[in-house]
Amino acid sequence: MRVLSGIQPTGNLHLGNYLGAIRNWVKMQDEMNGDSQCFFFLADMHSITVHEEREQRLSNVREMAAALVACGIDPGKSVLFNQARVPAHAELCWLLNGTARIGWLNRMTQFKDKVGKNREGASIGLFVYPVLQASDVLLYQATHVPVGEDQKQHLELTRDIAVKFNTDFGVELFTIPEPIIPKATARIMSLRDGTNKMSKSDPSDMTRINLTDDDDAIAQKVRKARTDPEPLPDIASDLEGRAEAQNLVGIFAALTGKTSDAVCAEFAGQGFGAFKPALAEVLVEHLRPIRDRYVALKDDHSTLDAILVKGAEKAAAAAEPTLKGAYEAMGLMR
Ligand code: ADP
Ligand code: TRP
Repeated sequence: MRVLSGIQPTGNLHLGNYLGAIRNWVKMQDEMNGDSQCFFFLADMHSITVHEEREQRLSNVREMAAALVACGIDPGKSVLFNQARVPAHAELCWLLNGTARIGWLNRMTQFKDKVGKNREGASIGLFVYPVLQASDVLLYQATHVPVGEDQKQHLELTRDIAVKFNTDFGVELFTIPEPIIPKATARIMSLRDGTNKMSKSDPSDMTRINLTDDDDAIAQKVRKARTDPEPLPDIASDLEGRAEAQNLVGIFAALTGKTSDAVCAEFAGQGFGAFKPALAEVLVEHLRPIRDRYVALKDDHSTLDAILVKGAEKAAAAAEPTLKGAYEAMGLMR
């Protein structure tokens, strides 16, 4: 089993990233045994699709590395690195640009969402973003890729590219990866609108809980979260049609390890006036230790850089046989 996942180092992590992706990474890391290995990386080469000043980019990578370690990614157990330090990603991406089809990329909903009406003004980087993502996964022969639901389509494209490359060149070079999507927490919704996902790009900070929020900010955001006047039902299926209520119960359940049914049973008949303080307490309890570890580590550049350099060395060594195989399969001399 080879687990691999990446995250763009753009801005702060929020509860959606944590419950939808990173917590699952940590679980998979902690359940590893024998020959299994985990690779987690900061997708800084992907971040060129967002304009950023040099200093900002440099600090984003370190901050995200600190956040991942604070969330429980252990550089002693997993290979933790930033993509830019492993040139094999960009090299394989170029080779796979010969395999990926424009028609396939035209169907990517994330690209369509990001460009909106301004398709002509979008960068080529944003368009081929999913090919670089395919390279990230295929380089390491990843078998399992834990991501949030919004990445499912990119993983399907990765599989299509792998199959086409293997077929076109008559090789069995690339492993076909499986996405691992945690069902219950695949989409944590905005605190202000239960039909939108919690996102760092939402202009209002009140819509999300950042992993750096202090206890008071967390309590205030929960207090002001949108809800409805109805009490909580006995069973979770009766939350149907109450998106905001469903989301808050889902967050409570995910953090406490209970089912949404068990949470409903616990609070049945009570309104959000009672539920919200309990939710805030659970959030504070879970996020405080993560925040404390993050604060202690984020300015320790030498420790963070040492982790990333060492991770990149291991990653480059693991990537080399696949990259070599791709050049060879295509008849390119290196
Ligand atoms: P954002 O939407 O805030 O820009 P990213 O696109 O950088 O977040 O996502 C990073 C990871 O977190 C991905 O694996 C993604 O699927 C997951 N993720 C992001 N937002 C959520 C959410 N609201 N609920 C669940 N998972 C999420
Ligand atoms: N595109 C992913 C996101 O926005 C990040 C990512 C880049 C990734 N490369 C990857 C995720 C490879 C999984 C595997 O969250």
